[in-house]
Amino acid sequence: MPTQEQKSISTVKSYTRADWQGGYTSLKEEYDYWIDDIEGEIPPELEGTLFRNGPGLFDINGQKIHHPFDGDGMISRITFTHGKAHYSNRFVRTEGYVQEQKAGKILYRGVFGTQKNGGVFANIFDFKMKNIANTNIIYWGGKLLALWEAAEPHILDTYTLETLGKEYFHGALSEGEAFGAHPHFEPKCVMDNGNPCMVNFSIKPGLLTTITIFELDTSGKVIRKYAHQVPGFCFIHDFAITENYCIFFQNPVQFNPLPFALGIRGAGECIKFEANQPTRIIVIPRQGNSTMVDKPEILEIQSGFVFHHANAFEKNGNIIVDSICYENLPEVEPNSDFRHTNFEALKPGQLWRFSLNLADRIVNRELIESRSCEFPSLHPNKVGREYRFLYMSAAHEETGNAPLQAFVKVDLETGKRILWSAAPKGFTSEPIFVPRANTSGEDDGWVLGLIYDAQYHRSDIVILDAKDLTVVTKLHLKHHVPYGLHGNFVDEVFI
Ligand code: CO
Repeated sequence: MPTQEQKSISTVKSYTRADWQGGYTSLKEEYDYWIDDIEGEIPPELEGTLFRNGPGLFDINGQKIHHPFDGDGMISRITFTHGKAHYSNRFVRTEGYVQEQKAGKILYRGVFGTQKNGGVFANIFDFKMKNIANTNIIYWGGKLLALWEAAEPHILDTYTLETLGKEYFHGALSEGEAFGAHPHFEPKCVMDNGNPCMVNFSIKPGLLTTITIFELDTSGKVIRKYAHQVPGFCFIHDFAITENYCIFFQNPVQFNPLPFALGIRGAGECIKFEANQPTRIIVIPRQGNSTMVDKPEILEIQSGFVFHHANAFEKNGNIIVDSICYENLPEVEPNSDFRHTNFEALKPGQLWRFSLNLADRIVNRELIESRSCEFPSLHPNKVGREYRFLYMSAAHEETGNAPLQAFVKVDLETGKRILWSAAPKGFTSEPIFVPRANTSGEDDGWVLGLIYDAQYHRSDIVILDAKDLTVVTKLHLKHHVPYGLHGNFVDEVFI
């Protein structure tokens, strides 16, 4: 029998850190070309455009940024039409991006710890924020919008990806006002005669936190906007919707702004996870035509940290919420380098199902997927509804924590899992489920993913059959695309 030590030495990892790091190198060039290096055939029925957003720069002229979340937003657009595919990418020309590129150095402190050169005295009492537009990209009401949760969206040209300005929704948003990066698209809204609607939120943190909800019709007009104050500091990145509710998980964190004000730490580095405090679930009734809004309900559960919710729905008087939970939030340390992340020392994200009973004020929870997972995606018609199939990015190994190298499909009805892995050289990001047109099967369609291939330091677009996660097509790009955050597929063809 091997001793414990020998056993751990002989454990073969599914990746090397050097390979993983390759996906966190800047992509400075902007491309525009038809993809010609293709394995397999692009399904001719796959017509539309995949937009993705994420940090594109990890340095400003060689000065390293401290955390990927501080990286300037870069849009990738992959257009599928008539069995062909086109790639282009552009940086969002935010004020900060333009100024820093011109200056050739870091001019702004980042929320996640990027500091200007010159130490404390260069950073003290500098609260200027760079709206980096790097988290999500949506197409709604005829506009392409790059989102970052702490400020207003940037409008881009769908054809040229040129930055056109900032979006204020006809004055519904004021200058500098936050607009979250995680809108959810309700397929049929009962308040809007069964038309689709977009629901988003914003957070104004403080001792009391204001949560504002925005509901937009298909023309991009804000038709409902309502706000609530809840006790305590909130660090909330995503939420979930049902037909009648918006659901928020208030992670148990404490915010001490002093080191930020003193120029020692970034704001995100002043957030401390409190393992002995419960997570609060805030349930806000969605507003109908009345101007009176019911008060939010707040329920408590065991402590945990959530970035992303997979979905939520109402069933038998309960609200069901599926969320990816971490046992704790690793703190971003000023002297650490994210490129040297020790995955094994961190807790994995795992999929849990929460059943909320508002009448009895009871929350039950159940672990659904223990494999390390992130970035959930589902059929767009199932948002806010009972659903069966969920797709996520996942680790190659069933246990432990590791970089995302696979996609997993979970059948929530039977419990069956299907895994597609790009290990050892491939690293995955958010999968996007695209339904086949004119079909009704919940998993009839494709899963699109952008994979970083460390062997060639380039990225591939994979098209998987959503039924069994077999590869239909692999499109090799001419370059790498850094690990991104979120994106969306639209049926319109933009080239
Ligand atoms: Co997110």
